[in-house]
Amino acid sequence: MNFDVFTLLPDVMQAYLHASILGKAQEAGLIHVKLHNIRDFTTDRHRTTDDEPYGGGGGMVMKPEPLFAAVESALGDDMGKMPVVLLTPQGRLFDQGVARELAQHTRLALICGRYEGVDERVRCHLATDEISIGDYVLTGGELAALIIVDAVARLITGVLGDTQAVKKDSHASGLLEHPHYTRPASFRGWEVPEVLLSGDHARIAAWRREQSLQRTLHRRPDLLEHAELDEADRNILDQLLKEERNHSSR
Ligand code: ADE
Repeated sequence: MNFDVFTLLPDVMQAYLHASILGKAQEAGLIHVKLHNIRDFTTDRHRTTDDEPYGGGGGMVMKPEPLFAAVESALGDDMGKMPVVLLTPQGRLFDQGVARELAQHTRLALICGRYEGVDERVRCHLATDEISIGDYVLTGGELAALIIVDAVARLITGVLGDTQAVKKDSHASGLLEHPHYTRPASFRGWEVPEVLLSGDHARIAAWRREQSLQRTLHRRPDLLEHAELDEADRNILDQLLKEERNHSSR
């Protein structure tokens, strides 16, 4: 999977991309992340990437020319054949489903906006998609691009090593993941649940599923509407709801 990231702050992104799992995935050639400095595509003496907005009002707007030049020169013949994503708080909301969708492509371009905004012609005529990582406004798209690279890269076969890990993720089946414990079995008097020490794989799997359902019910009940649930899951949820009702009526 190839990522082309267009940014004014390539150095800021570099450290994260070369650490840990993403760094190893790049060394193994499973992903390639190319950072393109938008400023390298300016043509004036001052290397200007922003300007005042037409119509007045404060703030600065990113100019279209360096952005078009950067994307067109990097993508070449792949222009029009791959997603060009503009990171913006006005985009569609990023979630695990969007990560899975983006992971189907072999190449992905991500444009990081800065300043107050990006010239509208970039949105209309260069970007093919607009994505937001949440309903809040950042000072730029760099963190959003890193989040997308990270979430998409770990879906690529081989990046995590353990292929089961992706399947068990929170959100993978539409549910939050069960709790995890490691050694020591007793820490400051807090014990690891007995079932996890039992060695009984069927009991452990059942406990984890129930925890997963319970967590989702309590923290993100909205997810249950679209989660992959079988009859056993529905019975557990009914039971949990019944117990809660009994509890609150006491
Ligand atoms: N740039 C600024 N805020 C953003 C957000 N919430 N998502 C994506 N890009 C952004």
